[in-house]
Amino acid sequence: MTPRFPRNLSIPVTNYLTGVTYSLHRVDEVVETDEILAEMVAIGNETLVYSWLFDEMLDGKPYQTKNARDFFEMGINGWRSSKMFVFLLLTKDGHPAACIDIKSADLGRAEIGYLASHRHRGVMTNTVVALSELAKEAGYKMLYGRVRKRNRESLGVLLRAGFSRNEQESAECETYDYFELKFS
Ligand SMILES: CC(C)(COP(=O)(O)OP(=O)(O)OC[C@H]1O[C@@H](n2cnc3c(N)ncnc32)[C@H](O)[C@@H]1OP(=O)(O)O)[C@@H](O)C(=O)NCCC(=O)NCCS
Repeated sequence: MTPRFPRNLSIPVTNYLTGVTYSLHRVDEVVETDEILAEMVAIGNETLVYSWLFDEMLDGKPYQTKNARDFFEMGINGWRSSKMFVFLLLTKDGHPAACIDIKSADLGRAEIGYLASHRHRGVMTNTVVALSELAKEAGYKMLYGRVRKRNRESLGVLLRAGFSRNEQESAECETYDYFELKFS
């Protein structure tokens, strides 16, 4: 069985700190403009995002337009093949603020990943909550997140969103702590 996600998604998400409303979209339903690509490059090079996600992956080189294009391509292919499900959180004016994905179609236990611009700090916990609801409706039984042991910001997101630490997996891994959310 594959997850059942609706089309034409636009899920409202509120920034906890500012009260501003955003909307969550499938990346294959967002038009890839030069402006959006440039904004994603800027987010990719923000200190927190770059240091946790891209520094090692890009060998210290800046996050570039090609990387943002690859992100869209990967996301669109993921939806087309039903193997990976990438979403963008947009402001009311259509500017990217955050992204989040479900990395597999394994309904029993699938990993999520995410990043948010510091300019929109306060959106991520509520985005994870919104995605979790959607995942549950799509047929998933459990989601999990892997967080590098020193990444306090990300750890806080998962705990606030209702995930519990998997003590055994976390103890067995030197690099990551594991958190999971089971749907009854
Ligand atoms: C980790 C990351 C996504 C967090 O994004 P964010 O929008 O700042 O996260 P949140 O919305 O959860 O939290 C921001 C603040 O709002 C508060 N907040 C947000 N939603 C809340 C809620 N529903 N209830 C209570 N407090 C909330 C938090 O307490 C936090 O404040 P604090 O730092 O003073 O405790 C972002 O820092 C990031 O992209 N980091 C780099 C990439 C990364 O680490 N990705 C994860 C890899 S595992």
